[in-house]
Amino acid sequence: ALARTYNTKAHKNNQRSYTYVQPHASYKVAILGASGGIGQPLALLVKMSPLVSSLNLYDIANVKGVAADLSHCNTPSQVADFTGASELANCLKGANVVVIPAGVPRKPGMTRDDLFNINANIVKTLIEAVADNCPDAFIHIISNPVNSTVPIAAEVLKQKGVYDPKKLFGVTTLDVVRANTFVAQKKNLKLIDVDVPVVGGHAGITILPLLSKTKPSVTFTDEEVQELTVRIQNAGTEVVEAKAGAGSATLSMAYAAARFVESSLRALDGDSDVYECSYIQSDVNELPFFASRIKLGKNGVEAVISSELEGLTEYEQKALEALKPELKASIEKGVAFVQKQP
Ligand code: NAD
Ligand code: LMR
Repeated sequence: ALARTYNTKAHKNNQRSYTYVQPHASYKVAILGASGGIGQPLALLVKMSPLVSSLNLYDIANVKGVAADLSHCNTPSQVADFTGASELANCLKGANVVVIPAGVPRKPGMTRDDLFNINANIVKTLIEAVADNCPDAFIHIISNPVNSTVPIAAEVLKQKGVYDPKKLFGVTTLDVVRANTFVAQKKNLKLIDVDVPVVGGHAGITILPLLSKTKPSVTFTDEEVQELTVRIQNAGTEVVEAKAGAGSATLSMAYAAARFVESSLRALDGDSDVYECSYIQSDVNELPFFASRIKLGKNGVEAVISSELEGLTEYEQKALEALKPELKASIEKGVAFVQKQP
């Protein structure tokens, strides 16, 4: 049922098959930053998954109440709370999927990169613990700036000798969710059918929706392409401004992150038809990290669907070239942050 809701198969054809119907609760998911604006609704959505047997919630504050509250839902998973550095290891032991929304969000006027100084340290510390306690887990990074925090995580895992690039993911699902919503609205399409790949990174112009690859096939005017692209790129800022100082996207982000968790669990559980866009270590072009559509399998990234990056329109090709310097600089900033530490 969740797979249908999240519509992660639509890109292949529009005859989605629902043959994968026997999930059983057997996976452990850990959420780090679980009492935050994203963490709480994400924990609720993950608590609804029939694939989860243990849901471990970690935060530096307020996590006991969140866990007590959630534990009363009559769904299969057992909820446990962990607070403070001394409990982090126990939270992570045996985890199959670790989701990290820990860190500060933007306020109006800020870029995601303005969060670097605080969030880089938070992500580094949490990934060190992941490396020590559950190096085989799928790691989902939500904390911004994603364009830099994923390279930070990769460097930390490398230093610890446990880096598996197939299992480290920057969560860009919200960009796809937004693109699908905005395109369906603009073109009066049934939402469940719409699937727009979004590639590049997760900040401003590095977010590149490939509207020409929309399924089902849709024609856009040049004006529509421009308007939709800019709206998708600025959608995070749209929410930051509407919240007027009270944070950034939390509910739509929790929805998107839960979709990515569910896709990961289905892949771990043997579903061979799971596709998502994600920001990963990549060799589709000269950038060492790049978001594109991937096929997920038991061991993480099973294939990168690089064919989707071929045959771009002139608009998309120009936008792709234009985003490269910014994305490259954000990646290098993340790598340098870890490498310059004593
Ligand atoms: P929030 O402030 O509401 O929650 C963050 C939580 O992290 C808090 O509960 C806080 O106690 C916790 N935290 C802080 N330091 C921690 C640490 N060292 N260990 C564990 N927990 C810690 O913020 P939010 O709205 O939930 O956003 C969280 C992050 O997600 C931000 O960086 C935001 O920019 C990012 N974000 C990313 C996307 C995306 O698409 N990838 C979308 C929305 C938000
Ligand atoms: C988003 O896209 O909503 C997030 O990256 C949060 C933000 O700062 O915009």
